[in-house]
Amino acid sequence: MNTKLLKIVNPLMFLAFLTNQIAMLLYKIPGKLQYSEQMTALHTIAGMIFLVLAICHIILNWRWIKTQIFGIRKP
Ligand code: HEM
Repeated sequence: MNTKLLKIVNPLMFLAFLTNQIAMLLYKIPGKLQYSEQMTALHTIAGMIFLVLAICHIILNWRWIKTQIFGIRKP
């Protein structure tokens, strides 16, 4: 169940991060889109989507984090 959802969440997270970074690059690099409202908006929206997906990613991997990081195991 969780692994199935992660197969959707992980690629979306990758795309959101890539969009976030490319928007910031275009915002900074001299050209038509430099300092444009569109790139600010794209960076912010992709960044917010990324944050939401990152939280989902942690929730979906919570069991792994509990066992591998905190060493909590069911008897
Ligand atoms: C490693 C990831 C990120 C990098 C390197 C990065 C980089 C930057 C930089 C350099 C600026 C300042 C632009 C300027 O005013 O000259 C900025 C602004 C901003 N970033 Fe990011 N960012 C990242 C991730 C995110 C994420 C995850 C969000 C989530 C919401 C986000 C939201 C914003 C917002 C709201 C601004 C202000 C935009 C404005 O000036 O109105 N960023 N970012």
